Amino acid sequence: MSDDTAATPPPHDITIRGLAPSDGEALSVLYAAPGAVWGTLQMPFPHRHLWLDRTQSPTPGIHQLVACSGERVVGHLGLHLAENPRRRHTAGFGMAVDDGFQRRGAGGALLDAAIDLAENWYGVLRLELEVYVDNEPAIGLYRSRGFEVEGVKRAFALRGGSYVDTLVMSRLRLPEGILRVKGPDLA
Ligand SMILES: CC(C)(COP(=O)(O)OP(=O)(O)OC[C@H]1O[C@@H](n2cnc3c(N)ncnc32)[C@H](O)[C@@H]1OP(=O)(O)O)[C@@H](O)C(=O)NCCC(=O)NCCS
Repeated sequence: MSDDTAATPPPHDITIRGLAPSDGEALSVLYAAPGAVWGTLQMPFPHRHLWLDRTQSPTPGIHQLVACSGERVVGHLGLHLAENPRRRHTAGFGMAVDDGFQRRGAGGALLDAAIDLAENWYGVLRLELEVYVDNEPAIGLYRSRGFEVEGVKRAFALRGGSYVDTLVMSRLRLPEGILRVKGPDLA
């Protein structure tokens, strides 16, 4: 880590590793849980094979990490590297921690690993995401890692009968002196 929002070491019982083909079953359960569906764009009652298929072979442009407590997979993060050559300095991500394992440091450990991977190995300068305006745990996590609010997307997604706004957040690490055409600061 290399800056002011440097990571704290993960709790001793949490390890981070790359996705394995055998993680499909665990991720199917993790992303079907009510909290994960509420906080992400996952659908309730997903097909059992959705994550089995996704874990079988690496998807180009997506670097996937899991958090484990012992052998048990308790969290997942997919880092999406931009394909457009002019946006290669950017990446987005989606993440979730098992509903029964939250607030024990897995989300922070996953995000710290993803920030390190993105910025220090892929050369990402801008990490970006969208988060529902009422998702306080996620917003708290992102703020604690140096993400700032850039704007609001209104009625971004349907969630259980309500259209929910999202915050657009990013963590920007532009080198000193780099040219940038700036817009107004709306935050
Ligand atoms: C958001 C999420 C990934 C956080 O994972 P987690 O393992 O609970 O997070 P951690 O225990 O590592 O907490 C890290 C920090 O996040 C913030 N945070 C976590 N839970 C919080 C809560 N309930 N309220 C406020 N802040 C919270 C805190 O800043 C916390 O640091 P602290 O414990 O030192 O105060 C998890 O709540 C989750 O999976 N939610 C459902 C799916 C989702 O919303 N994904 C994000 C989509 S944008």
